[in-house]
Parts: sequence; C-alpha cells; structure tokens
Amino acid sequence: MKKISVLILLLFLVACSSCRLAEIGYSEDEIKVIESLGEEAKDKIMEHGYDAEIIKVISDPTFDVSRLDRYLSLDLKAEDRLMVVNKGYQADSYDEDTLALMRTAYYIHERLDRYLDYLALHPEMDYREVVEMVNCNRDHDYYTNTIVSDTSKDDLIIANKYYTIEEYVPEDLVHIDSYYGLDAYLDRDTYEAYVAMADKMMAEGIDVWITSAYRPYDSQVRIYNSYLERDPQEVVDTYSARPGFSDHQTGRVVDLIEPGGDLGTFEDSAAFLWLQDHAYEYGFILRYPSDKIEMTGYTYESWHYRYVGKEVAKYIKDNGITFDEYYAYFIESQKASK
Ligand code: DAL
Ligand code: ZN
Repeated sequence: MKKISVLILLLFLVACSSCRLAEIGYSEDEIKVIESLGEEAKDKIMEHGYDAEIIKVISDPTFDVSRLDRYLSLDLKAEDRLMVVNKGYQADSYDEDTLALMRTAYYIHERLDRYLDYLALHPEMDYREVVEMVNCNRDHDYYTNTIVSDTSKDDLIIANKYYTIEEYVPEDLVHIDSYYGLDAYLDRDTYEAYVAMADKMMAEGIDVWITSAYRPYDSQVRIYNSYLERDPQEVVDTYSARPGFSDHQTGRVVDLIEPGGDLGTFEDSAAFLWLQDHAYEYGFILRYPSDKIEMTGYTYESWHYRYVGKEVAKYIKDNGITFDEYYAYFIESQKASK
C-alpha cells in the first residue's frame, strides 16, 4: 500500500511539472525537448517562464546545457543567443550594431568598442568595411599606436604603419644569384620559393627579374630620405615605408620587373598575369592590392610580392583579405583555425 502511494506521488509530481510547463505555454513537443535536458534544466526553464526562442536554442546542435543560465538571461533571437553565448562574447549592450558586428567575418571581440566608435564616425560604411578597417588599425592615424612586431613569427613577421620591426635583421639571408635578380639578399625560404616560382615562369617563356629584395634598415633610411627630397612627407608615406616599418626589411619581399621594363609597366606584363593566378602556389601574395589601399595604407604595387608560406598565401588569396587583416585575426588575436 505504501509503495503504491509513493508511486502515485511520484507520477503526480512528474505530471505536475509537465502541467506547469504546459500552463506556462509550452506545447507537448516543446515539453518533450525540455524534459530531455533533465530535472535541473527543466526547473530553470519553468522558473524563467515561456520563451519560444529557448526551444530553438535547445534544439540547435551547438547548444550546451552547461550554459543554459546564460542562454536564458539574454532577450535575443535564438541564433544571436547561440552566437553570443557559444563564443563567450560579453558586451554592455546587445543592440543591432553590436550583434551585426559580431556576425561579421573576421570580427575580433576585443576590438568591439573600436568597431562601434569607428562605425559612429563612418555611418556610410557597412559592417564588413568597419571590421576590415579596424582590423587593419585604420581607426588610428598612421604611425600612431605603433607596437613592436614579434619578429619570432618568421614568415609571418609583419611590418606596416602600425608595427615596427625596428632594426631587425633576418637570421638566414642568402645572396640572390645574378640570374634571378640584383646584387641583394633574401631570407632563405623566400629565396628557395622564389627560385622554384621563377624557374616555372621561365620554363613557360615568361621573363621576370628581382629589382629590390631585402632592404636593411639603413638602406630604407637612405631611400625614404631621398624620396623626401622630391615629395612632401604625406605623399612619400603613400608609397614608401619609414625606416623600421618596411616589408622589405623582413627579407621576405621581392619587387619584380620584366627585363627591359620597370615597376610602372609591370602590371602590363605576362609575368604579372601569371603571378595573379599562381603566386600563392609558391607562398607569395600581392602585398598592396589596388582595392585595399585604405587597409594597407599604401598605393597599389603590382610588383611587390611578400612570402608568407603556401598555406597562408592560399588562405589570403581565397578569402580576398590583406596580410594585415590576416595577422590581426589569426596571429595577434590568436584564432585557432584557418
Ligand atoms: N614600397 C613599400 C611600401 C616599402 O617601402 O616597403
Ligand atoms: Zn616593394
């Protein structure tokens, strides 16, 4: 008799909590979804009240029951709750701009305030443009907020108007054979990759020659100062890096010409056309593309190729981003996957 009353009581309790979910407004199917989470979760949802979005959240494959409190605490659409909670984003407000930025490709959460400030100044820009510009530090004036580049990154060392490599000298420089270019040096991996690429081009009847490669700090001082004699500094800065900020000083850059041509005519050469399709296969990227002048801070340079290794070069080409943005997203903020 006692056993039977305990059983009845238990059945009543179970039925009762389901009744309460039904009373709150959950359908039979929704109650099944909630019950599949176990008692503790069920109690929390009961306490929370009716929430159509939480059912969508629970039904999503990325739902994590250990984060239920946080999903419940946000008054947002299911997809936004999943994004905010699963990615661990915390913000003062989850307004439309904030959520749209969070959904944007290459969003870096630590830069949220900078995106919002930049967006306020540039309401004409779309979210992707805002993220791209801020990722390239373009919310700061050139040569302000500069930091010392991590030169242990080897092929991924960055030098631009916000990262200085100071007086860095590449560890393993090799001399360029006169068959391939001028009397200068390159980082060994870069040189080997370049030789493989140039050999392939020449085998296809396409001539190409290195006209500038590794430039030591002192050379950049001389070059930059010589430009200053002919142009005002704000003009020089559009085409030449200040000493300590040049991509050339990494030892992983080649400026290319066709024999008989010059930098200005390179864009019209067979070599340029070939490189557009194949440079990435050898680990090279066009460092200053014509449609990224605002991001890189430099005018278009059809001749300037930077070695970053095959995998990264392919990623950058496939996704149409700059090395500056790649660096911000994958290296500086250390996102795991590519
Ligand atoms: N021309 C490129 C930007 C340099 O000076 O490094
Ligand atoms: Zn160059």
